[in-house]
Amino acid sequence: MPTQELKATIKDMVVVGKGILAADESVKTATKRLASINVESTDETRRQYRNLMLTTPEIEKYICGVILFEETLHQKSDSGVLFPKLLTQRGIVPGIKVDEGLAEFEGSIEQYTKGLEGLGERLEKYKNYGCRFAKWRAVYHITENTPTEMAIKRNAHDLAKYAKICQEHGMVPIVEPEVLIDGTHSIETCHKVTEKVLREVFAALKRENVVIDCTILKPSMVISGKEASNRAGVDEVARQTIKVLKATVPYELPSINFLSGGQTPQEATAHLNRMHTLNEKLPWYVSFSYARALQDPALKAWQGKDENISKAQQAFLKRAKLNSLATMGRYTEDMENMDLDMVVVQ
Ligand code: G3H
Repeated sequence: MPTQELKATIKDMVVVGKGILAADESVKTATKRLASINVESTDETRRQYRNLMLTTPEIEKYICGVILFEETLHQKSDSGVLFPKLLTQRGIVPGIKVDEGLAEFEGSIEQYTKGLEGLGERLEKYKNYGCRFAKWRAVYHITENTPTEMAIKRNAHDLAKYAKICQEHGMVPIVEPEVLIDGTHSIETCHKVTEKVLREVFAALKRENVVIDCTILKPSMVISGKEASNRAGVDEVARQTIKVLKATVPYELPSINFLSGGQTPQEATAHLNRMHTLNEKLPWYVSFSYARALQDPALKAWQGKDENISKAQQAFLKRAKLNSLATMGRYTEDMENMDLDMVVVQ
């Protein structure tokens, strides 16, 4: 096991005040995002959008890692530098989504994640592009009858196998079990499901002898279903999330970086911030690995037009800065209405 290599990556990715940008949308997901601003999805428009984000001045102050999608490894910035190289030059660690998407269990809405076959070989290829960490996402649907034991066990098993293979190849695994926000379920149901899911994930990681202090967890927050009536407020989400993490996550894990999972950008920032103002001692670094909650305002500001690039980069930088402040419990709601330069780190 190349432990020194893994430890060096963890050191570069667990940095006070910084988090991870998930820019690992598959072609299908990127196409959906671009369609929301009426931009046709082509190799070139996807490259332009990624160029906008990854060349934003000063993001290295708030972002220490970026998760890329395979096609992005071969794409270049406007100035002709491969994106993973550009990130490395900026002091940001490039990483890669290595799962190959979701498949349905027969006759069920439940899903498992594809991509274990040939993973080791692919990791070697990604390393040659400069990637130092990987990401694998499993999803859990909350309905009256799901998630089932079978889906919880299968996804935990695959996450652990993936994590083990990553570590053997010197890549830090980001383990992402996402309890989906879709549905009318209560926050209590989400708590129960998340607890079961995380227990099973850490039991499987242990069985596979995954080195926990060289692993990053990317969980969903404990939150009411998107269509629930009486959705829990910021304080409740923060409390229930920390409660479940303390009950299930080993203290030697270095970092927990949340996904945003369909929360608005403001919600995702406020929840993270509240976790840091609860007056609870957190044994791990607690930060973000958002896609939509970091990108959405920038995407809207861009609209596919060159003349909007600078405005879009400002919007992106602002979200990165607000989330950085949230990792230190220094975000306040009034910052949402301030110009970027007026947002001061206290
Ligand atoms: O796998 C999902 C992404 O890495 C996180 O995306 O923050 O939009 O949920 P999200």
